[in-house]
Amino acid sequence: MNVRDSEAVSVLLEQLGHTPANKEADADLLIVNTCSVRKKAESKALGKLGLLASAKKDNPSRIVGIMGCVAQRLKEDIFKKIPNLDFAMGTRSQSRLPELLELVLKGEKSVLCVGDNDKAENIPQGHKPGEISTFVNILLGCNRSCTYCIVPKVRGKEKSRPAKDIVAEIKKFVDNGGKEVTLLGQSIMSYGRTNTVWPEEYTSPAGLKEPLPRLLEAVSHIKGLERIRFTSSHPSGCTKELAHAMSILPEVCEHIHLPVQSGSDQILSKMRRGYSSDDYRKAVEQLRSEIPDISITTDIIVGFPSESVEDFETTREFMNEIDFDNSFIFKYSPRPDTPAAEWKDDVSDEEKIRRNKVLLEDQNKRALTKNEKLIGKKVEVLVEGTSLRNQARLSGRTKTNKIVVFDPKDDIGRGSIVKIEISRVTPQSMFGVITN
Ligand code: 5AD
Ligand code: SF4
Repeated sequence: MNVRDSEAVSVLLEQLGHTPANKEADADLLIVNTCSVRKKAESKALGKLGLLASAKKDNPSRIVGIMGCVAQRLKEDIFKKIPNLDFAMGTRSQSRLPELLELVLKGEKSVLCVGDNDKAENIPQGHKPGEISTFVNILLGCNRSCTYCIVPKVRGKEKSRPAKDIVAEIKKFVDNGGKEVTLLGQSIMSYGRTNTVWPEEYTSPAGLKEPLPRLLEAVSHIKGLERIRFTSSHPSGCTKELAHAMSILPEVCEHIHLPVQSGSDQILSKMRRGYSSDDYRKAVEQLRSEIPDISITTDIIVGFPSESVEDFETTREFMNEIDFDNSFIFKYSPRPDTPAAEWKDDVSDEEKIRRNKVLLEDQNKRALTKNEKLIGKKVEVLVEGTSLRNQARLSGRTKTNKIVVFDPKDDIGRGSIVKIEISRVTPQSMFGVITN
């Protein structure tokens, strides 16, 4: 979501006549986009801002601002922490960036904009031309109340964007050469559940009734768009209709990011996640019955208050049982004004590190076994560009979101779809040769 917000703001700046600097030292305007989800992310961003703001002594005309969740959380206090900062823009105020900059240029100090200014209808919609893959917000905010999570506080109440605006935004992106879109929402399956997104008279060609499956269908009808992804999901939204829509719409990728957070029912209940491990199992069964090869990835928090070694081992078994394709594992970090922050953070940092490591090792083993099964098989890859590790090779992703690296061939480049025969694998990547 922050990657998307940074893109939207940089496109907005270009529309205002600014041009991107080649390197940080050349920039007249610097905005740090920030994340509040864990303390470490917040400290890192504040550290960077502190350096930038104090360097204003040597370059007083340079403007330095903060945007995103930390600005939203700290509000005016941010100017006490970082005294030389010119402005702070919250999570729902991007559309006001032009006025905000004008005030700063007029000489106003510490300009703060953290209100509920962006409506679902007027959030910035620009995308960088020339990209083949992008993110599109479909749902702002989150109405859930997981006890560890700061997101509902900093991103506000849920608001779904009208389906027609989303389709129009994606059409424009595809007209500029876009091939893949990832629809975004904190708890994306709530799309269209708190406000209407489809006109009453709308009928879906496949007879779909639920807002998200209908949106996937409408987006899949955009000519030239090859792939559709969406994130993040919640088991309560894994309906029969969603699984059905995923199976009948070829552009919708066979991948779901379905954060489970813990496999222990006691911990899930304390996290107020709104499901049990059994509910999660049923959601996975529902998906796998329609899309047998679906890849399932997850998020896990280790060391949540009161998580015992037994709870942890239950999570470990659960992860093996579901057989996750990939997982992102986080050490619990108490966040201000969340219910869990009132509870004793009683798992030591050392133990959190141990649990994190154990789950990562398990995940690597699982991923390696899964990838090894693909050796000798052909997979379809959307080429994203040169490989990060080796500029002489190309890399891309399968529909199941696995990274594939291969030698280039004439006429094949960013945006091409190729068949690759897999010859070698590691837990996080696969290697092979082009066969088409
Ligand atoms: N501590 C650690 N991890 C957290 N996440 C959210 N809040 C916290 C927290 N307080 C993790 C969850 C979520 C992911 C984006 O970040 O696993 O799914
Ligand atoms: Fe946070 Fe829970 Fe909402 Fe995800 S669903 S953003 S974890 S409150």
